[in-house]
Amino acid sequence: MSTLDPARFDPASFLRDYWQKKPLLIRNPWKEWRNPLEPDELAGLGCEPGIESRLISGAADALALEHGPLPDDRYDALGTAPWTLLVQAVDHHVPAVADLIQPFRFIPDWRIDDVMVSFATTGGGVGAHFDQYDVFLVQGLGRRRWRVGGMCDETSPLLPHDSLRLLADFEPVADYVLEPGDILYVPPGIAHEGTSLGNDCMTYSIGFRAPSVGELVDGWTEHLLDEAGDDDRYTDPDLTVQDNPGAIAPEALDRLHTMVTERLADKQAFARWFGEFSTAPKPSEIDWSPDTPFDPEQVAQELADGTPMLRNPASRFAFVDRVDGAVILFVDGQARDCAGDSADFARLLCASNHLRVSEPLAEDSEVISLITGLLNSGCLAFETGEA
Ligand code: SIN
Ligand code: CO
Repeated sequence: MSTLDPARFDPASFLRDYWQKKPLLIRNPWKEWRNPLEPDELAGLGCEPGIESRLISGAADALALEHGPLPDDRYDALGTAPWTLLVQAVDHHVPAVADLIQPFRFIPDWRIDDVMVSFATTGGGVGAHFDQYDVFLVQGLGRRRWRVGGMCDETSPLLPHDSLRLLADFEPVADYVLEPGDILYVPPGIAHEGTSLGNDCMTYSIGFRAPSVGELVDGWTEHLLDEAGDDDRYTDPDLTVQDNPGAIAPEALDRLHTMVTERLADKQAFARWFGEFSTAPKPSEIDWSPDTPFDPEQVAQELADGTPMLRNPASRFAFVDRVDGAVILFVDGQARDCAGDSADFARLLCASNHLRVSEPLAEDSEVISLITGLLNSGCLAFETGEA
């Protein structure tokens, strides 16, 4: 696995000086850079149903977008015009690409989205644009010229285009050529444009996500609505005769307002909902659930044998500490309360995607039952298993 050299990249100073603030070119900070995926393999993923892919082709002033899955013979028909293939969530399908996320886990897992991989021929690029999210653009293979501009927002003028959001006024302020292993960090809103300098350009975009206030309000209130019982209603047993029956009295308004704000402001319930919301999996064709479900005895035996476990790269894991020392574990949108040994296991599970459980956790019946549930729902697998 490629790991970052702490002498060449310091996460703490990066977070302090650049994260969400300004772009940064990081010249090959890897101990040893190895490109984790071949162009042919990416081309194959672009043809697979159930995998999100796009092909952007044509001259820079006439880019055309096609959505995958692409027909097998599509690449041969492209001719000499520049093109770029972009495949989303490659980390879900290729363990070596999932390993690329590991060095960036100084940023919390819930902020990480996925690894998009692009392949481009000479002159290929997706045009000048800005993204809503932070991204580390890791040059995998070949060379790419990146030009970086200023801050944009929804008022920034766009070129007329049916499907691509391309900037009409792109004014680069920096210009870099990235070689294999180099990384360009781009914060949200910053204009950028990449152009391939050869026929073998592969770029890995480690992308992050940040919920918008609209998404949060929408999700949280929908959850509150689901929870609200129809008989949970306004009551006024202390009602007294009022002068004007048309008035909505201040006491009534206070009570109504409290009915809403109490629920909206419930931080504990919010933490539980947000854990579920932020670990909800993306729709995926990847199913790791075993053909024959595990029973706790089998699981106990594997743990006693020291069999390592692997997290499904398409699954999302997170936890929230509770004040009583227990934790709420979230896996793929489902919350589980874990106390004692199970809480220790939950923390271990959230810290590493490869794990081995030893005593006393391996002998705890609650831990065994938790692992059995996770194995059977395909979020976890024994490394000798069928995943
Ligand atoms: C690319 O890899 O070609 C595009 C990545 C990006 O600009 O976000
Ligand atoms: Co971009």
